[in-house]
Amino acid sequence: MRKRLPYTVRFNPSNQEIELAGTIRPERETDFELVATRIKRSAAAIAGAFYINLRRLRHLNHTGFVALARCLQELREDHPELAIKLIISTMIPWSEARFKFLSEIIEGVAVEIHDKAFYPGHSEVENERLIPSLRTQTSVLWKHERKLLTRHGLRPGARVADIGCSIGDFATLVHKAFKPEAIVAVDHSQPFLEYARGVAGEFDLDIEYRRGDLSNLLLDDDSFDFVTCRLALNMFDRPGDILRELFRITRPGGRLYLMTEFMSQVYGYPRDATVGWTYRRAAELFAVLSTELDLGPKTRGYLVGAGYTDLRIDLLEISGANTDRHDFERVRASWASFIDREIAAAADTDDSDAERMRQGFRDHINAITHRRGYPTWPVCVASGQKPVAPPRAAT
Ligand SMILES: C[S@@+](CC[C@H](N)C(=O)[O-])C[C@H]1O[C@@H](n2cnc3c(N)ncnc32)[C@H](O)[C@@H]1O
Repeated sequence: MRKRLPYTVRFNPSNQEIELAGTIRPERETDFELVATRIKRSAAAIAGAFYINLRRLRHLNHTGFVALARCLQELREDHPELAIKLIISTMIPWSEARFKFLSEIIEGVAVEIHDKAFYPGHSEVENERLIPSLRTQTSVLWKHERKLLTRHGLRPGARVADIGCSIGDFATLVHKAFKPEAIVAVDHSQPFLEYARGVAGEFDLDIEYRRGDLSNLLLDDDSFDFVTCRLALNMFDRPGDILRELFRITRPGGRLYLMTEFMSQVYGYPRDATVGWTYRRAAELFAVLSTELDLGPKTRGYLVGAGYTDLRIDLLEISGANTDRHDFERVRASWASFIDREIAAAADTDDSDAERMRQGFRDHINAITHRRGYPTWPVCVASGQKPVAPPRAAT
């Protein structure tokens, strides 16, 4: 059998990007030749900007670094017109200093940090100020979700990955209710992970929290029976790319479980006209900021597009009739103030729209707190199975 290399090199001509991922540890510079040849051949096929994606390059030893530097130097000499851009991630702690050094010594090589502020509201969403409302939100949803998780295929003893886990409350609840064989939970926010690790330590929970970027996970292919990604997919302008990454880590026969918003359908009697207008307007404004608040109905298409089959789709409607109103109010009030801050920060929002929206949020909260009111918050839940590869034909 052919030995599997500890790294991959993939060229995507439509993005003019070559990706080096995994561990590259050549003993001699000549051992790097295979990689160098692929880099040079890819560069020869394009013009303008050439992206070298190093976001999932976990290790590169000194010999590899020297060989890469030489390769880039030669590339510049052969193609002085090329703008070489090294794309790195802060998830790999050593990479920033090393690759910045390369950009200083080789002309025409620049470094871009992918995850410095890679979606609108980045610092808001990852802020510890949100911890209390994230806690309440998970407890509100969990009352309905526990049964749903069984319907969507989560079983005791599964290997679970929760991607975009925030403060870890969902992972904790899954750990207690389903006794999985292992749970790995990944998030980008340091303060959330600190909180989550604190809870796991205090309650002696065997959950592995890792800092990571969900668009480039440092997790192995085909390694989880049940992958969850709740209320995080909405924030990315290309959810299809994230789906491909989640597909990669799901084992054949395993399932991906998604929870997404369906914001334009939020309802609030007796002032539904203002409530409906406000949430629809918020969805429109956020779409301009590349954040999809109405991703719910589109998740089916994304699951199919990524290759999942055996789809299960549910609309979970949190309402004044099935949820503690005080909790409901806390969750929605915190959400409304987050949207309000984001909208205030977006330079092109008309002031009168902003004021009308504030009124709509107040009307939704009133529908929640008033005993005659009827509020809703619909959330979409969808899952699919990664097909089991067909058996190889005998030769
Ligand atoms: C709205 S919260 C939802 C979190 C959690 N799944 C829940 O249901 O409570 C979105 C989470 O996605 C995380 N996040 C955003 N971008 C990320 C990225 N590129 N990689 C990993 N996590 C990310 C944020 O830090 C935040 O914890």
